[in-house]
Amino acid sequence: MAGLHMQVDKRAVLDAALPAKSVLDFGGGKQASYAQYCQNLGCPEVTIIDCDPSQIDRSQFDVPAMSRNFEEDDLTGLHADLGLMFDVLLYQLGPLRTLRRCLACVDRVCVAQPVLVPGIAPPMHAIFLQTVKDQETQDRLRPTLEGRPSQLIFYFPQSYNYMCWLWGLGADLISAWIEREGFVIREQQTNPRCFGEAWEWWACYAERSSA
Ligand SMILES: C[S@@+](CC[C@H](N)C(=O)[O-])C[C@H]1O[C@@H](n2cnc3c(N)ncnc32)[C@H](O)[C@@H]1O
Repeated sequence: MAGLHMQVDKRAVLDAALPAKSVLDFGGGKQASYAQYCQNLGCPEVTIIDCDPSQIDRSQFDVPAMSRNFEEDDLTGLHADLGLMFDVLLYQLGPLRTLRRCLACVDRVCVAQPVLVPGIAPPMHAIFLQTVKDQETQDRLRPTLEGRPSQLIFYFPQSYNYMCWLWGLGADLISAWIEREGFVIREQQTNPRCFGEAWEWWACYAERSSA
């Protein structure tokens, strides 16, 4: 299998975390199947938090959704046992701040997304992809799908939306951020070589150390 099909198995990461009393799926609006999976397994309170919940295919998914920008809006009152952050941090203007805001709402978390392969950037570094100007680095980092350059919008600040690949983050950096917020990482998975040689899928399950 190639391309998108090679992503880490987000359901396997969820299985490490479930059962949960309540779930907030941050950015679950494009692919509601993970929130639905939690609901189908008997989780009594599952809510999708997304700036565009109209994307949810209501012929397939019946999970409640709240229209909220979790990078900018007031999240007071939002709390759940478990948070999901699947493929969202790389699209945030301030990924650490967004991670911090979302983690403040939960006691446990599953994070999954494409990350830079170790060695592409120095340890504990992030690459702001839209500032990469030289062609050689662009070509090295440009995501590919099944060997072809992807259609994802890349390097165009004027087109900034969640489909832009803004951040090349390393798993070491995201892990450090999660731990800095008082969580302990219990499980990690990687699946090598997604979107070309520079990227791999990474996922983790973490618990608040006092939880
Ligand atoms: C690439 S999709 C990921 C969908 C799903 N979580 C998955 O793993 O397949 C990103 C989703 O996050 C939402 N999103 C991105 N940034 C957001 C923000 N700051 N606030 C609310 N929703 C956001 C988008 O609307 C979109 O539904």
